[in-house]
Amino acid sequence: LKHFLTTEGLSQEILTEILDTADSFIGTQARSVKTVPLLRGKTVVNLFFENSTRTRSTFELAAKRLSANILNLDIARSATSKGETLMDTLWNLESMYSDMFVVRHADSGAAHFIAQHITPNVAVINAGDGRHAHPTQAMLDMLTIRREKGSFKDLSVAIVGDILHSRVARSQIHALKTLGAREVRVVGPNTLLPHDIESLGVRAFNNLKQGLKGVDVIIMLRLQKERMQNALLPSESEYYKLFGLTTDKLAYAHPEAIVMHPGPINRGVEIESAVADGPQSVILKQVSNGIPMRMAVMAMAMSGQTQELAQEEG
Ligand code: CP
Repeated sequence: LKHFLTTEGLSQEILTEILDTADSFIGTQARSVKTVPLLRGKTVVNLFFENSTRTRSTFELAAKRLSANILNLDIARSATSKGETLMDTLWNLESMYSDMFVVRHADSGAAHFIAQHITPNVAVINAGDGRHAHPTQAMLDMLTIRREKGSFKDLSVAIVGDILHSRVARSQIHALKTLGAREVRVVGPNTLLPHDIESLGVRAFNNLKQGLKGVDVIIMLRLQKERMQNALLPSESEYYKLFGLTTDKLAYAHPEAIVMHPGPINRGVEIESAVADGPQSVILKQVSNGIPMRMAVMAMAMSGQTQELAQEEG
């Protein structure tokens, strides 16, 4: 039994196996996902210390599709408000015959910490930790790209926006590089690009039109205001003028480029409604793909198939 904490350091083989497993859960009819007995009798606990719409809901739906029992702990109403520590809360939940914790936390490294301190009976899945990693989001994005474009090797991908505070961007960059994307670009103001970003093998742009020129995939990100100090907060109207994806800016990309966004979207801040709802947008397909992808990750973790993943993490 192993954990799924990051896409960093994972091999192309294991990422491809995760994608293939997710694909196998998608039914032949439109908008259908299979129900399978792979986690029958197992108990999954959703532990969201930060708010979520998509991730929490699709983990719950995925667990049900795998025939598992799912418990959503309401953190706001839990005994953590009475001074109980994180680990005491987790050890109590583990004593309720839990098999898997799905963890979202505002602190980078929280899921790793829990994985190190919980007993080996429980698998830990990272559902987003601080600005560090959001591996299941990155993998559902890879699934969406592969299903739309067929393969990664000829693709030029632009990730646009607040890269500095984005756990999604980091996990996407690791996955895209490993899966063989021809080129990964990041686009944003210098204040929202990590100073060492090019060490990850990406090209940085401060001009949206130049950054979008000829790309096959555009991934828009929101401004993560909850992780910013005031000094970094740009004016929304100025930001939209320079980095908002509008119909005229989209025209700089390849004519068949797809537009993605992990959500939540802020219309009129990083993306125009006409683009978010337009024919090139696959934003809601990403949400749908969250269910088979999270089924794949949970099934593989529970069966020990992600052993390589833990070994590579050391
Ligand atoms: N993409 C994403 O993590 O969305 P939620 O915050 O709604 O889970």
